[in-house]
Amino acid sequence: MATTQDAQGAARVLVASNRGPVSYEVREDGSLHSKRGGGGVVSGLSAIGPDAGALWVCSALTDGDREAVRRGVGEDGVLMLDIPADVHSDAYNGIANSVLWFVHHMLYQTPLEPVFDAEFRRQWASYETYNRAFAEALAGRAAPGAAVLVQDYHLTLVPGMLRELRPDLRIGHFSHTPWAPPEYFRMLPDDIAGQVLRGMLGADRLGFLTRRWADAFEACCAQFTGGLGNTRVGVHGLGADADFLRARSHQPDVAERTAALRDEIGTAPDGSARRTIVRVDRTELSKNIVRGLLAYRQLLDDHPEWRERVVHVAFAYPSRQDLAVYRDYTAEVQRLAEEINSGYGTPTWTPVLLHVKDDFARSLAAYRLADVALVNPIRDGMNLVAKEVPVVSDEGCVLVLSREAGAFEELGEDALAVNPYDVIGTAQALHEALSMGPEERAERSKRLAASATALPPAQWFLEQLSALEEGTAGEPG
Ligand code: G6P
Repeated sequence: MATTQDAQGAARVLVASNRGPVSYEVREDGSLHSKRGGGGVVSGLSAIGPDAGALWVCSALTDGDREAVRRGVGEDGVLMLDIPADVHSDAYNGIANSVLWFVHHMLYQTPLEPVFDAEFRRQWASYETYNRAFAEALAGRAAPGAAVLVQDYHLTLVPGMLRELRPDLRIGHFSHTPWAPPEYFRMLPDDIAGQVLRGMLGADRLGFLTRRWADAFEACCAQFTGGLGNTRVGVHGLGADADFLRARSHQPDVAERTAALRDEIGTAPDGSARRTIVRVDRTELSKNIVRGLLAYRQLLDDHPEWRERVVHVAFAYPSRQDLAVYRDYTAEVQRLAEEINSGYGTPTWTPVLLHVKDDFARSLAAYRLADVALVNPIRDGMNLVAKEVPVVSDEGCVLVLSREAGAFEELGEDALAVNPYDVIGTAQALHEALSMGPEERAERSKRLAASATALPPAQWFLEQLSALEEGTAGEPG
């Protein structure tokens, strides 16, 4: 398998994840254009500094990425693996996103799903191949005793495989998703469940976003592997990056989009600014966008006094569009938003402003204008939107937050809690949020922002690294 770099110096800190920090696009003139991604791991890794001898191993995901690998184009510190497209698709679409993601987010809908048949077994073999490609690349590039931080459900087998290849390494694995409780996890065939858990237990240390997910993992191990063995488990609740967000949200492109969005939202019949309920998500089944729209419609039915006076700003950005179930979900979100607009809208009021084209600057503009943030996932590892909106909002916002989001453990006290399945309860919470007085709202929002930024990405990353380096002494997590 080709890589972007020839064998150079061995790395002392390595990160492995499916999606890397950079992606490439082939322009019409044949040139390659690179785009850097965001997210906690990217900013976390930059905190250890350019001289740390860090290497990020990731997959080539786009045609541009594959072309970059072929041309030997790449960034220092990034090693892209050109895993054959069919193997990658089986591992990423088939196993990681259609099985492991569904198990941990408890998204299956019986009686049709799941079916673990011969096709699943074939895809599982690709998942093993894909994990092995990572393990071998890491083994080949790590300095003696190096620290390796493996990320997420795509790469659960890597710690065990890497341990066999390189017993000298210190290996960590971090899960950015929830972990399924044993009653749900054991839906997986026993041998596969065992392989996933034993693969992860190849690590010295496993990290989770909340105590709840760590406990679920331990409960699964109690059933399938007879416990954790020598592996330690810790909790690191990734927070929002306040400095970055505050600076970025006052740049001219965000100011421009804030003004445009304010125009789109418009004013109430009495001339006052309309209230805004904001949500920003990948169009992802676990984010529960459809029930969010149903709750908003319920609000307009139960409290007609809000008609013309509120707008639901819903940004739902495309995600995993290779999977039919995601495409169908996207279509359902669009259909329902249109139905609400045609059923309730007036010549001067569009009740739902749905945007589906990914635009980070416009997301920040929506955060700035949010009176209420709606974050109602069915299940979510953490949910950073819940943490970002209070940091960015101009006037302070009320957070309507699902009790099933990891972020609820840290923000629950100052948010309005909802059961994500309860559309009527969510509508009531939206009404309560819109009705909250400005002082209480500002105070809650301030406390939310403080909790949300308690463990910013750089510190989150360093904490994991030092916990891994502390050796085998137990830690409370
Ligand atoms: C979740 C996962 C990440 C993943 C992200 C985006 O947050 O934990 O590993 O990268 O979703 O999904 P995608 O499939 O586009 O990489």
